[in-house]
Amino acid sequence: MKLEAQDILKKLEWRYATKVFNPNKKISAEDWSVIEQSLLLSPSSYGLQPWKFLIVENKVIREQLLPISWGQKQVTDASHFVVFTTLKKISETYIKHFIERIAQVRGQNAESLIGFQNMMIKNIVETRTPEDVSAWNHRQSYIAMGFMLETAALLGIDTVPMEGIDPKAYDKILGLENSDYQTVAAVALGYRDESDKYAQVKKVRFEKSSIIQKI
Ligand SMILES: Cc1cc2nc3c(=O)[nH]c(=O)nc-3n(C[C@H](O)[C@H](O)[C@H](O)COP(=O)(O)O)c2cc1C
Repeated sequence: MKLEAQDILKKLEWRYATKVFNPNKKISAEDWSVIEQSLLLSPSSYGLQPWKFLIVENKVIREQLLPISWGQKQVTDASHFVVFTTLKKISETYIKHFIERIAQVRGQNAESLIGFQNMMIKNIVETRTPEDVSAWNHRQSYIAMGFMLETAALLGIDTVPMEGIDPKAYDKILGLENSDYQTVAAVALGYRDESDKYAQVKKVRFEKSSIIQKI
């Protein structure tokens, strides 16, 4: 199964950080389930998936997020709004939970994975500082974000990734303060409004020769 190269490129050029969504156009359930799968299928270091993706369906909560998102209207106008959160730390318990999942999915004995488990406990729990683990988890979640942005583009769905939010204030509203997770960023998804002039402006990218180097 191969997608046509030119079709992929066209979609990537069509994608832009959408500033104005049409509040009346909703993503179909079928397309949305593909987008959710793209999050589940995202790679992560060791496969640890140190994240949760919160799909904010509640309109009242979306309104509450608006002022702590620099007033960016995409938060309330887009069809769907996803908050990316990551684990604040990775514990021995979490690693064991992951090992149990591997054993379950692959029909293996957890005992046979003890070497892998101990290696992760040594390299993560016993070696990395909490700050390092938090930064590492943040990086992982951006991979999932990239997967989702590209999948949406291929489906002809508009998106805007959003770091223009106050993660600590998000944590408060989303009830994450005393949880294992913390807000990283968000993505709004839906369909561009025809009034959005940013859909027409040229993409600004440096020359390929200064960005991609062969050595
Ligand atoms: C991690 C990240 C955070 C971003 N945060 C915002 C944001 O809060 N609001 C916004 O309108 N655009 C945001 N953008 C969009 C960028 O400004 C945009 O991707 C960039 O200018 C390139 O334009 P293009 O995506 O339309 O090609 C963000 C992009 C990324 C990757």
